[in-house]
Amino acid sequence: METSASPAKKIMLSGIKPSGDLTLGSYLGAIKNWAERAEQFDCYYFMADLHALTTRQNPADLRRRTLEQLAQYVACGLDPEKNTLFIQSHVHEHAELGWILNCYTMFGELSRMTQFKDKSAKNADNINGGLFTYPSLMAADILLYQADYVPVGEDQKQHVELTRDVAQRFNNLYGPVFKVPEPYIPKVGARVMDLLDPTSKMSKSDDVGNGRVCLMDKPEDIARKFKRAVTDSETGEHCVRYDRENKPGVSNLMQIYASCTGESLEQVERDFAGQGYGAFKTAVGEAVIETLRPIREEASRMIADKAYIQQVYTEGAQKASAMARRTLRKVYKKVGLVERPF
Ligand code: TRP
Repeated sequence: METSASPAKKIMLSGIKPSGDLTLGSYLGAIKNWAERAEQFDCYYFMADLHALTTRQNPADLRRRTLEQLAQYVACGLDPEKNTLFIQSHVHEHAELGWILNCYTMFGELSRMTQFKDKSAKNADNINGGLFTYPSLMAADILLYQADYVPVGEDQKQHVELTRDVAQRFNNLYGPVFKVPEPYIPKVGARVMDLLDPTSKMSKSDDVGNGRVCLMDKPEDIARKFKRAVTDSETGEHCVRYDRENKPGVSNLMQIYASCTGESLEQVERDFAGQGYGAFKTAVGEAVIETLRPIREEASRMIADKAYIQQVYTEGAQKASAMARRTLRKVYKKVGLVERPF
């Protein structure tokens, strides 16, 4: 029978490691834009807890952060009815396909990953095998769901490129098993830099720091962090001016303000013409406080409601594993494993 059903939605998938608290950078740079996508794409988002284990974690903190992160995703507008939200370790196919893909990813390729080199330098006392094969597990995350698009930051682009290479290699050997995904660098997402070191990205993994703002920070802490934000020594009528190269601190604050208020950078420049950095920084702090307030309140409510959170991740894992199972079964068959008896 002819049907006029619209073509299936493209699949989008992304993960965040629960190795640090989510920041304003995670929100403005990524999560904020995820909510609107559910109409256009079939979206999967997960807490990459297995990936978090590649650096040493305090077990209680990892568990708390994983659940908090899920609550925060929902509070940021990701509707669990419209998106598949789950915890990576709950869908065992990730680890299983990860192993197989290890056997199709070359030592040389893994050695060239800049994240591996960076992390090895930072964790010289714990350069473990998981850190090295991190990209194979990430490839499994993506390929299990036949994802078309993987929204990632610049720092993860190399991993998506490797995923494409591995998928193509596998498909060349066995026929079309995997969709070859594309990195999706969102045009609108802001790249939020550290408030005290505006030439480096606001990181979620650092332990403390007045340079980063967390989603759960109290308003008075946010205000204080913005008051201390690094600017430059310019004074005068037009010191609030966008120039990433020469004025990284001010430009970062402008970008944050623009993202929170929905204004353009030109508008922000006009708004603050004739004003000094003091007034500007206070205004940015206030815009951020108002942006994060509903998220913090909603997330706190959900974290307290354990039954609700559990329901969200249970349903998410069920939906995810239905898809993951299908791909893994195909892979097992192709590579020559005997079909599972149960
Ligand atoms: N590596 C990503 C990061 O560090 C997290 C991640 C794990 C991921 N698996 C993924 C992102 C799959 C996109 C798709 O941020």
